[in-house]
Amino acid sequence: MSSTEFAGPEMTPLRLREVTIPNRLWMSPMAQYAAGTDGKPTDWHLVHYGARAVGGVGLVMIESNAVGPLHRTTSADLGIWNEEQAAAHRRLTSFIAQQGAVPAVQLLAAGRKGSHQVPWEGEGQNGPVSVADGGWDVFGPSAVPFGDLSVPRKATSADMDEVVEAFARSARMAHLAGYEVVEIHAAHGYLLHQFLSPLANQRTDEYGGSLQNRMRLPLRVAEAVREAFPAEKPVFVRITATDWAEGGITIDEAVTFAKELATVGIDLLDVTSGVLVRDLEARPPARDGVNVEFANTLKKASGLAVAPVGQIADLSLAGRVLADGQADAVLVGRALLRDPYFALRNRAGDPAAWPARYHRAL
Ligand SMILES: Cc1cc2nc3c(=O)[nH]c(=O)nc-3n(C[C@H](O)[C@H](O)[C@H](O)COP(=O)(O)O)c2cc1C
Repeated sequence: MSSTEFAGPEMTPLRLREVTIPNRLWMSPMAQYAAGTDGKPTDWHLVHYGARAVGGVGLVMIESNAVGPLHRTTSADLGIWNEEQAAAHRRLTSFIAQQGAVPAVQLLAAGRKGSHQVPWEGEGQNGPVSVADGGWDVFGPSAVPFGDLSVPRKATSADMDEVVEAFARSARMAHLAGYEVVEIHAAHGYLLHQFLSPLANQRTDEYGGSLQNRMRLPLRVAEAVREAFPAEKPVFVRITATDWAEGGITIDEAVTFAKELATVGIDLLDVTSGVLVRDLEARPPARDGVNVEFANTLKKASGLAVAPVGQIADLSLAGRVLADGQADAVLVGRALLRDPYFALRNRAGDPAAWPARYHRAL
């Protein structure tokens, strides 16, 4: 059989600006909490991400990287705020690119979800770490905590200016590091999502209240990152379609935000939902392709390319979403933790898809 007989819609390339992504099955960013305290990638990252690149995903999105030391979630987060870190990332980007995949990186400011333990340490998941115990000062739009994490300080206008600068600097570092794509994390209850959602943002100044005001900081960041990252390379935003909670963001608000992102020059929306509040009632429903319809709504309204994430754990579902034109790519998370060769599973008889070094196993 020729290799084209195996090529489903997920195997066609996608070009964004000057970057061609070889297929549409992509690895979603997933924090490994394996960095040194200097925020640099370790051998773990090289092997972990390297294996998924060998495994045939078209784009490897490296987990959330803090844009500054005070913007980390834990002391084991990756960082990309200085040149030493950027140099250390080069090993990752060059190995991923050698395998034919596109190296991408997600940029994060944690806000009120900052300064906690790594998930498997201590008692209970993600317990807070106080400044006295080696944690750091956290700020958010308002002094409203996430669950039992530390109560954030209300951000000043100087804090907001620093956030914008920090994202822009990290975008420059990401380029130096060899990344072809950067993604701004504006979802999952981190700082930019906190500003967007009335459930975390109770400000009465120009950064709170109306949607126009709540979008102000995320849009400033999007503009600054777009300007700081080379024009030939795409910028993605991970956006929340809904908070799944009374009084939170709805798909209509997400549509307005998406349209604004289009005017700023963002190239693709990575569409997710939920986890702004620690409330069992606000959990996204456990159903396959939970964010696919939202992604399609955002695509139609904004004209941007979209890639949904969430419970797309089998290749036939991924193929259907793409064949139906609901999305331009799909992001896969946990299925790729379970199996680095997930993307190659339906191509067992297609040697062209597998590294030559593995052909004797096919
Ligand atoms: C271990 C782990 C770490 C994660 N870290 C991040 C992260 O760094 N940034 C992010 O945006 N989402 C993160 N997520 C969420 C995933 O990217 C993805 O959105 C989520 O797992 C749903 O997709 P799935 O059903 O394919 O796993 C993480 C998920 C897991 C399981």
